[in-house]
Amino acid sequence: MPLKLSPLNKQQLNALGSLTAGLNREQIVWLSGYFQGLLASPGNIHPISIGSRVKSDKQLKILYGTHTGHSKLIAANLADKIGNSGVEVTTIALDDYKMRQLSGETNIVIIVSTHGEGEPPAMAEEFHEFITGKRAPKLAGLSYSVLALGDKSYKLFCKTGTDIDQALSKLGAKAILPVLKLDLDFEEGASDWINHFVSVFNEASETSILLPIASDNSFGTEAYSRRNPFLATVLDKVKITGRDSDKEVYHIELSLDGSGITYEPGDSVGILANNPPHLVEAVLNHLSFDGNESVNLKEGIFSFRKALSDHLEITVINRDVIHKYLDKTLNGKLKEIVENEQQLDDYLYGHDLLDLLEDFSAILTAQELADILRSFPARLYSISSSQAAVGNEVHITVATVRYSHNGRERAGACSGYLADRIELDSQVSVFIEKNPAFKLPEDEKTPVILIGAGTGVAPYRAFLQQREANNQKGNTWLFFGDRRFYSDFLYQLEWQKLLKDGYLERIDVAFSRDQEEKLYVQHRLIENQKEVFKWLTNGANIYLCGDMKQMARDVQKTLLQIFETEGGMSTEKALDYLKTLKKEKRFQSDVY
Ligand SMILES: Cc1cc2nc3c(=O)[nH]c(=O)nc-3n(C[C@H](O)[C@H](O)[C@H](O)COP(=O)(O)OP(=O)(O)OC[C@H]3O[C@@H](n4cnc5c(N)ncnc54)[C@H](O)[C@@H]3O)c2cc1C
Ligand SMILES: Cc1cc2nc3c(=O)[nH]c(=O)nc-3n(C[C@H](O)[C@H](O)[C@H](O)COP(=O)(O)O)c2cc1C
Repeated sequence: MPLKLSPLNKQQLNALGSLTAGLNREQIVWLSGYFQGLLASPGNIHPISIGSRVKSDKQLKILYGTHTGHSKLIAANLADKIGNSGVEVTTIALDDYKMRQLSGETNIVIIVSTHGEGEPPAMAEEFHEFITGKRAPKLAGLSYSVLALGDKSYKLFCKTGTDIDQALSKLGAKAILPVLKLDLDFEEGASDWINHFVSVFNEASETSILLPIASDNSFGTEAYSRRNPFLATVLDKVKITGRDSDKEVYHIELSLDGSGITYEPGDSVGILANNPPHLVEAVLNHLSFDGNESVNLKEGIFSFRKALSDHLEITVINRDVIHKYLDKTLNGKLKEIVENEQQLDDYLYGHDLLDLLEDFSAILTAQELADILRSFPARLYSISSSQAAVGNEVHITVATVRYSHNGRERAGACSGYLADRIELDSQVSVFIEKNPAFKLPEDEKTPVILIGAGTGVAPYRAFLQQREANNQKGNTWLFFGDRRFYSDFLYQLEWQKLLKDGYLERIDVAFSRDQEEKLYVQHRLIENQKEVFKWLTNGANIYLCGDMKQMARDVQKTLLQIFETEGGMSTEKALDYLKTLKKEKRFQSDVY
């Protein structure tokens, strides 16, 4: 390759020529990674001594607990980087880790998310219980670090990681770095943390780091991601709740043509939306800003109007935002709310940025406000199609969030965007969020019980499309619940056809508002408890999708009741049975 306009002098060019002559592809790839690393860490350049790579005497175990795969991705990145620096590294999922080994470990990193309402992801449940429980061993010889993933809109932000960190510390283990808690936009923070961890760990092991560490934050190998979404064209958008419904649910079909994106039933689509324009204008009006003020965000420099519209979260406020706002404004009335957990919870639900500004006035610059607000996170929607049936399309089922408060009509940022601001042929920024913890069984003959309420039925449309495409009949039982038969029976005609063709074996429905007494999916489960238990003992998997707060809790309680009555189990045994089903991935839930 001619090196025209090379900045190298003749001597350097000769040296480069003799270095690169005869290199194979693998060697060239390695060298290009080395040079990228040099470029990315100018202050951290170490001379390379070819042929004498020092191997660290240290070993590191990276344990991860994940639901949607983020923690696993970070674990893989860390393993890659620290492995390159000569450390002997092993990466293990927390549900594969033998806990009795813990007392013999010297160095571990735990990367773990939090799910449910402050609960560990299913694969980390046992570890979390063990390490925070009475049986945990003393760990004075252990050095560790915890990276915790979470979402600042949840009350118990990064609880699992924090619990594990505190437990390890209490058991005498020594933290290499303090616990790091990361919000949904974890990529940059995780990448910086990895670099920091690798250098601290290597310093501690008194080995020279031969390879500079590139501070790229390329998580995952997918071409399209949260940070680089694909522009999908809207092929269809149909309201699938009836005129009389008090809900507004849309079936939306998006084209993935040209993207090469693939997904599996059970995965979700991430959508990057924008905020309601009238809310943006109302905020600007309230602050007497014209919207042209320039603000510096981590995504770049924008006008304040653009930042409020596309880059900052304003339909929802969370604890972190309120605390930062209070620090800046020192408003006494707000302080009272912040100091009372219940009042704070009540305030966070159903109040947006405009409420905050109106209720607790303050004089802030556009930049100060931008610094307080959270980056606009993508919203996830369960995929309601199978690529085996729809090819280069992806379908979603979206309930529009609408409510009125303080005399102001409000809409959710993303569901409102899809309902009000997106039309046929519009383009929507999307990416796929894999969900390895919500998957059809590998053996297609395994019976499946699918329990879902409202839009919780979406992934089951994908599951059944997949079974139909594979001509796999029977062994499928759907429990569906919503408010009213006439207006809210989502995808009714499709279920009827699947039933007629034999791909859906049974369907039981519960419409809560069609009669005086409330009737929910859990009541249908109880009515059919003998059969449900029989399906289970015949090896069925159970799936649960939809509302986390009420439905998921009630259904789990009902299942425990069924185990007790039909399986003759004590309360404790029933709980153990549910735990085993979860561990064996025969009970999978995707609730939100
Ligand atoms: C894995 C996963 C899968 C999901 N799948 C689906 C799916 O298939 N279909 C689907 O529709 N959604 C699904 N969701 C939920 C979805 O991601 C969004 O959370 C939802 O659409 C709301 O987002 P939004 O931006 O429209 O509303 P936001 O702008 O986030 O507003 C929501 C906020 O509005 C307020 N609010 C809402 N309702 C009321 C009310 N009645 N009274 C007072 N305040 C209220 C609350 O403060 C609430 O936090 C899923 C979520 C996850 C995590
Ligand atoms: C249904 C649901 C519940 C969640 N609950 C919490 C929570 O209680 N606390 C928290 O900090 N994060 C919570 N999160 C956010 C996740 O921890 C976050 O998305 C994380 O990046 C997931 O990482 P993982 O893919 O490794 O599981 C929740 C996410 C979902 C989808």
